[in-house]
Amino acid sequence: MNKSCPGSIHRPTSFKYERTLLPFSFYSPKLALYILAICATLLLLLQIRSLHTPPIPTLPSPSPSWSFLQQWQKVINKTLASPNCTQDVLESMTQKLRDSVTFLPLKDLRFANQPLPGHTWFMSSMYDTHEEGEVQYQQFPSDSSNGRLLCLKGRDTHDGSWNYYALAWPEALPSNASLMKGLTFVAYNHYNYDNIWHGLSAMVPFVAWHRKNSCETPTRWILYHWGELRFKMGTWLITLMEATFGQAPYIEGFSGIEDDDQPVCFEKAVVMRHNEGGMSRERRMEVYDLIRCKARVYCNVSGDQKRPGIGMTLLMRTGPRSFRNETAVIGIFEKECKKVEGCQLIVAYSNNLTICEQVKLMSLTDILISPHGAQLTNMFLMDRNSSVMEFFPKGWLKLAGVGQYVYHWMASWSGMRHRGDWRDPDGENCPYSEDDRRCMSLYKSGRIGHNETHFAEWARNVLNDAKTSKSEEASKHAQNSISKTCDCS
Ligand SMILES: *[C@@H]1O[C@H](CO)[C@@H](O)[C@H](O)[C@H]1NC(C)=O
Ligand SMILES: *[C@@H]1O[C@H](CO)[C@@H](O)[C@H](O)[C@H]1NC(C)=O
Ligand SMILES: *[C@@H]1O[C@H](CO)[C@@H](O)[C@H](O)[C@H]1NC(C)=O
Ligand SMILES: *[C@@H]1O[C@H](CO)[C@@H](O)[C@H](O)[C@H]1NC(C)=O
Ligand SMILES: *[C@@H]1O[C@H](CO)[C@@H](O)[C@H](O)[C@H]1NC(C)=O
Ligand SMILES: *[C@@H]1O[C@H](CO)[C@@H](O)[C@H](O)[C@H]1NC(C)=O
Ligand SMILES: *[C@@H]1O[C@H](CO)[C@@H](O)[C@H](O)[C@H]1NC(C)=O
Ligand SMILES: *[C@@H]1O[C@H](CO)[C@@H](O)[C@H](O)[C@H]1NC(C)=O
Repeated sequence: MNKSCPGSIHRPTSFKYERTLLPFSFYSPKLALYILAICATLLLLLQIRSLHTPPIPTLPSPSPSWSFLQQWQKVINKTLASPNCTQDVLESMTQKLRDSVTFLPLKDLRFANQPLPGHTWFMSSMYDTHEEGEVQYQQFPSDSSNGRLLCLKGRDTHDGSWNYYALAWPEALPSNASLMKGLTFVAYNHYNYDNIWHGLSAMVPFVAWHRKNSCETPTRWILYHWGELRFKMGTWLITLMEATFGQAPYIEGFSGIEDDDQPVCFEKAVVMRHNEGGMSRERRMEVYDLIRCKARVYCNVSGDQKRPGIGMTLLMRTGPRSFRNETAVIGIFEKECKKVEGCQLIVAYSNNLTICEQVKLMSLTDILISPHGAQLTNMFLMDRNSSVMEFFPKGWLKLAGVGQYVYHWMASWSGMRHRGDWRDPDGENCPYSEDDRRCMSLYKSGRIGHNETHFAEWARNVLNDAKTSKSEEASKHAQNSISKTCDCS
């Protein structure tokens, strides 16, 4: 720095940021204040000069304020002796800002025991924007980031504490950083992007944000799992996201950037790390409505062709959690369906349907009958108010934990009616006591039997209700003929 520069006189020595500082304080407001002070001072000096204010002669001299003024005058003289000074100071300050950008690990091990609630271990120093009932998110740049951009560093796919994040002003991006234009979606998923349930959970908040922001579409996605990079989504998920956003998601692989340590900053970034957490049921239903609507358009499935009858679909699994005697189960539901006028039973295996075949099938379904499993995620693709009947093998109630209720939740969030579940009282014999955790490994892949009396009675009830609500809705639709559009708000 130019030694004759007045801006360099008060060079603070405390101006040093270290990684050991608490993450909450590393973006010191001191820095901003310092810059502000310099700019204000320089402005003031120029102002004083331009007014040609002579030393005030009426002041009794010598006085403390007089010597003070003299000092200022000196400073002014120095400033004017070096016309490039303002430029120098700015450049030097920009360099300092650049150097002060501090990268923190994406995965904060202090929160290792509570990866999800409150402060997630992902970008733990950041706070989410959250309005009551709306999606929780972070956006960069924004008022809460003081106009700073999000920068990321590291390509680790095994340990999130080797990948880093930082905030930087656009004028002072870290050295060697590359800037990626457009909107970037940064996803955090505690599970994975292949499982259709967990994958969709991670996508829902982005769709909510997209819906609220005039259908703004991302240029790229960056996928993290525990702070580790991921480069793939399952086919089901990628197809639904392509349908929803109108273009196949581009998952950033950073292939254009040779050095793994080179930071990448984003013109505009939206970060989600709480899935649907915080969203009201109403908001969630709107999101599922939008994805359903877009998926039907994408798959050329007309939502208008309202069928008069009732569609009953048995969505079968093969292997774990399949029915032990499919013929018997199909027989029971077929018999009940036949008793209802206009009821049509379809038996399908989710693993040999294309995504669009699944979308089509669900559009024809009013009652979805299926064992517990990821294929049930398709339920939100049915018309609203459709019914779900779920089946569990032995042992799950006691041992499977709260996760076994995800399809109850999903039915509620997507506006469906979960009509309860049937839990097989019989199954594999576990050598330990019934509620021993070790039994779960046996029960997890158990198969599901049937109870003809119970299934028949249950099906009759659900069919009856479906018939009633279908005719009610048909008359309602005739009156207002609600046109279903896939609009954003
Ligand atoms: C500042 O410069 C003016 C003329 O440009 C001179 O008269 C004055 O003595 C200088 N003041 C100081 C404190 O150097
Ligand atoms: C001021 O900066 C300009 C452009 O950077 C340069 O050409 C000029 O020589 C500089 N003047 C002084 C007095 O340093
Ligand atoms: C920037 O990149 C150059 C060339 O690759 C390298 O020599 C330099 O050390 C890098 N600077 C930083 C701060 O990483
Ligand atoms: C939907 O229809 C359009 C135009 O007829 C066609 O180009 C597209 O491939 C169809 N999509 C699917 C999934 O069938
Ligand atoms: C399956 O059920 C059908 C109809 O109840 C029965 O005829 C058949 O024997 C059963 N199959 C097996 C393998 O138990
Ligand atoms: C679907 O899968 C089932 C069981 O895996 C099989 O029996 C059936 O033939 C398949 N159907 C088609 C249309 O591929
Ligand atoms: C779903 O059912 C509720 C309660 O019966 C009703 O108010 C609502 O209009 C129905 N929604 C649709 C989309 O039919
Ligand atoms: C089958 O279900 C009926 C009605 O819920 C019940 O009374 C009966 O005990 C069940 N049978 C078996 C073998 O569990």
